Amino acid sequence: MNTNVILKELTLEEKASLCSGSDSWHTQPVERLDIPAVMVADGPHGLRKVKETADMSNQEAIEAVCFPCACATACSFDRELLSAMGKALGRSCRAENVDILLGPGCNIKRSPLCGRNFEYFSEDPYLASQMAAAHIKGVQSMGVGTSLKHFACNNQETRRMSCSANMDERTFFEIYAAAFEGAVKEAKPYTLMCSYNKLNNVFCSENPFTLTEVLRDKWGYNGLVMSDWGAVNDRPLGVKAGLDLEMPSSHGINDARIVEAVKNGTLDEKYLNKAVRNVLELVSKFENNSSDIVWDKEAQHELARKIARESAVLLKNEDGILPLDKNKKIAFIGDFAKVPRYQGSGSSHINSFRVTSVLDAVKGICDVDYAKGYDAGTDEVNEQLINEAVECAKRNDVAVIFAGLTDLYESEGFDRKHMKMPQNQLSLIESICEVCKNVVVVLHNGSPVELPFSDKVKGILEMYLGGQAVGSAECDLLFGDANPCGKLAETFPVKLSDNPSYLNFPGNRDDVDYKEGIFVGYRYYDYKEIEPRFPFGFGLSYTTFEYSDMTLSSQTVSTDDELTVSVNITNTGKVEGKEVVQLYVSDKQCSCQRPIRELKGFEKVSLKPNETKKVVFKLDKRAFAFYSTQAHDWIVEEGDFTVSLGSSSRDIRTNCDVYVNSSDTIPVHLTVNSTIGDIVSIPQGRKRIESIAGKVSADMSSAQTDQTMGAAAQQMVEAMMWEMPIRAILSFTSKPIMTREELEAMIDELNEEINSAT
Ligand code: BGC
Repeated sequence: MNTNVILKELTLEEKASLCSGSDSWHTQPVERLDIPAVMVADGPHGLRKVKETADMSNQEAIEAVCFPCACATACSFDRELLSAMGKALGRSCRAENVDILLGPGCNIKRSPLCGRNFEYFSEDPYLASQMAAAHIKGVQSMGVGTSLKHFACNNQETRRMSCSANMDERTFFEIYAAAFEGAVKEAKPYTLMCSYNKLNNVFCSENPFTLTEVLRDKWGYNGLVMSDWGAVNDRPLGVKAGLDLEMPSSHGINDARIVEAVKNGTLDEKYLNKAVRNVLELVSKFENNSSDIVWDKEAQHELARKIARESAVLLKNEDGILPLDKNKKIAFIGDFAKVPRYQGSGSSHINSFRVTSVLDAVKGICDVDYAKGYDAGTDEVNEQLINEAVECAKRNDVAVIFAGLTDLYESEGFDRKHMKMPQNQLSLIESICEVCKNVVVVLHNGSPVELPFSDKVKGILEMYLGGQAVGSAECDLLFGDANPCGKLAETFPVKLSDNPSYLNFPGNRDDVDYKEGIFVGYRYYDYKEIEPRFPFGFGLSYTTFEYSDMTLSSQTVSTDDELTVSVNITNTGKVEGKEVVQLYVSDKQCSCQRPIRELKGFEKVSLKPNETKKVVFKLDKRAFAFYSTQAHDWIVEEGDFTVSLGSSSRDIRTNCDVYVNSSDTIPVHLTVNSTIGDIVSIPQGRKRIESIAGKVSADMSSAQTDQTMGAAAQQMVEAMMWEMPIRAILSFTSKPIMTREELEAMIDELNEEINSAT
């Protein structure tokens, strides 16, 4: 398809029509010019292709494979695994003639309460971007597009279509945008989906800052941007800002507004042409796709099982209660043992072709006793169910309770109100712990919960929302056929009020002020020295690992070069296992506040007992950089950094220091209101202040005739002066040492000197 030729042949009305959907799941075709429609379908952890017979009131989807949700897969810290899942998803799309699978979502988990956290990866932008990139690469390797969503700062469901995420520039770039930036640059998603909300009071569907300045100009993105479903507020403004495609159809209403805006001159046609070109280029990507591809759902069910297994996080394992001894008497307790909760509600909901519960899966492995314990359809405590479960636990050596959050708690469209588990489950766990000393809790939830029972039970296995094969994966892990190897992609605080967004979530009507700034997740808990229930990056194994011989390729590195970091990891236990080696960087001294440590690399390594492997990381400039609001860019301040390697953010095993040489400078603009301290911190400024200081101290010593000013007082005066604007110097001497005009001229000269030197 020659887009330039077609663009010339299209009428204004046809161009406008190409910029919106024809229905919920297709773009508009232009038959006259052989421009076909593109078909999209929801994902991201399965294919939700709505049946051809569906209408607005019944959006039933075809049967598909439900893989674990992003909350789980992120814990795998495994790029290859995410790509394999993406590839399987791409295969299902090809078989079903779907061109674009909507997702993945890489919004940052600002609060554990966000109803859609189960669809997102992490509280950490680097991890989120890496997981999203791997997913995208997998899907797109099959010739199927993705739509990275929801751009940007859609971190809550409360008033999601009207609220404004208000934050400063550094927070935007360092945390919320960074998750998208990495994925966009590394994996080049065919499309991006803008979010419903506003960013600093401008709708993300008509925001030139996010859609053009950041996405296209700064990051070099050249794919298509579509709206989230119904996110469009002012369509012509959206076209101008860089929103190419409106989804779903506006039934021609907004197409007509585009035409009118071009005709009356309020929308320059060049913006419309840009959008149309992006649509045409997208359409052309699928020209040669055929559907003669095998979609083996059975094989994908097995893959879903493997992914669930590799993503689960073992949070507690006292006395080695796990893996379970098959010769012991075992009770499985809880409604979720029979009907597992394995995905969240809303647009990502998959019509699974099969679901394996842990009770199904355990057949053939060993006999277990079962009691329901609670009803997942309600929070109400059912004494009878609890009593039956207590009797069941008494008859057995070990009680494994399958618990977590129910659909009523977590969904697209609303946020949780608290972090507690349903009361009927908490009462059940409490009662079982009273009669049984060997209790294991297996959790099914899309986001952290408070765990008041964590000291009373011996084992906690976090499955998150583990997809349709979750029951088999649970058996694999519980009985030791697989070794847990997931690590938390988010912090589990002890209680909700520990969370940094607590005072400002979900905001005040439409205003959501991100007052915690860059201190999201572990960045906050570390800085505030708050002990979480389980820290970011934490996860146990049935074996143990030792870190040794950490080396850096050099003690000094320049920002133009890469630093190679290596370490030996040894499996010191008795069974095969996988360790996620995490690399954190700390800036030892910086002119601005920075987190104690930030994740900048991770590798997952598989080791047999006694085996040692070398794990290697490459760090570039970005690993040491922060976003400077003066430079409006990422910069590195020259100096000492610490590179740490650990098994979690709170379990650093080894570290080394490195000196980073950098020619980055922060642009400076001094005024008469700049503090003396700020001026002295610049070498050219220090010289000026020294000469002024000469005059000041001459003045002072003549005024201070009794010589009573001791050394301590002198120090205090100096400290006070440090914080003083330079103009104040004119008022604090007994006689003028310079005029205001002379001071202004000196500052102008200084600015010129500094900026010509950079
Ligand atoms: C959701 C999107 C989804 C779209 C289509 C919206 O409500 O926010 O994530 O892709 O619907 O179902």
